[in-house]
Amino acid sequence: MQGTRRSLSRPAGVKITGTGMCIPNKTLTNADLSKMVDTSDEWITQRTGIKTRYIISDGEDTSDLAAGAIKQACENANISPNDLDMVIVASMTQDVICPAMAATVVKKLGAIPCGAYDLNIACTGFVAALNTASCMIESGHYKNIAVCGADALSKITDWKDRRTCVLFGDAAGAAVLSANDDEEVGCLYQGMWSDGERGEVLYVPRTDADIPESEKEAFSGEYNTIQMNGKAVYKFAVNALADCVEDAMNSAGLTSDDIAMVIPHQSNLRMLQTAWKKLGFPIDKVYVNIDRFGNSSAGTVGLCLHELMDQKKIGDGDYVIFVAQGGGLSWGTSLWKL
Ligand SMILES: CC(C)(COP(=O)(O)OP(=O)(O)OC[C@H]1O[C@@H](n2cnc3c(N)ncnc32)[C@H](O)[C@@H]1OP(=O)(O)O)[C@@H](O)C(=O)NCCC(=O)NCCS
Repeated sequence: MQGTRRSLSRPAGVKITGTGMCIPNKTLTNADLSKMVDTSDEWITQRTGIKTRYIISDGEDTSDLAAGAIKQACENANISPNDLDMVIVASMTQDVICPAMAATVVKKLGAIPCGAYDLNIACTGFVAALNTASCMIESGHYKNIAVCGADALSKITDWKDRRTCVLFGDAAGAAVLSANDDEEVGCLYQGMWSDGERGEVLYVPRTDADIPESEKEAFSGEYNTIQMNGKAVYKFAVNALADCVEDAMNSAGLTSDDIAMVIPHQSNLRMLQTAWKKLGFPIDKVYVNIDRFGNSSAGTVGLCLHELMDQKKIGDGDYVIFVAQGGGLSWGTSLWKL
């Protein structure tokens, strides 16, 4: 009958059935960076916890990282990319503005005609994609969705600006989410927030018109590259991280004893340590791999999830909290029973 809703079979639960990651071959160590700008391994390690990161080479693009991560996530979920109903790629460094990078990824996966779209909320991207996909599956309209956070910030880094160029790396992390009969599994709580009033403490200006008066002096001089007020971002991120974790646990009636692992955006080791001290949360339940990958923006949370699943440090029945913050300013959280 025209205009009527087709009967939907709403799933009992949503399960993360497979994860994957992809990094470029080329590494960039702190020693390499100290030959490019006035910095040192000691300064970078002490202030950020980063030792090395991966950077794409000529001929490689963000969609290659995303396709690699999703391919591995499908293999681990024991499904073919052709079984996916939707691919959501979170990124702020898409190959081109149009077509959507997710469509290019679907092409690279050989999964045409899968649904595909991009989501851009900077470093909060993977958590936003996870939240979006879990709601889509719960609606009954989709069964299998691949979510991916993929960024190659090396494309929009001012390599002469030591304040920012030491922080970032390129990477992608992905997960396959599927409808599941077990009503216990899935996203128990999620939240997303933004504050555009503070957008220019972490932004990418295209022209002089995009630079507010207050940020003119700090501008590195290179348009279309990341500009950041490090101290303001640091303060915002510590509070956002701590508030998100507390909010998620309170909303689900859980305590830190119940949580197997917190999977935070990897922006800065010092920042994570300060947030966790503020929360009084056991530091061994906070996953950290920033030393090996740097801050890969939307890539970090999926990358951490994959490493944890792969090493069987988390698994069926565990409660995990995903939390991220970044440009926008934006922040978000997602509490799951795996
Ligand atoms: C970027 C960050 C590490 C800088 O640390 P900081 O303690 O705030 O350092 P400051 O900016 O005050 O700079 C201190 C000094 O180090 C210098 N400096 C900056 N970058 C440097 C580098 N890579 N190597 C050596 N010295 C550096 C500064 O010029 C300054 O020198 P001065 O005192 O002579 O003026 C820190 O602010 C931070 O982590 N912010 C959050 C960044 C982030 O996570 N962004 C992404 C969010 S998703």
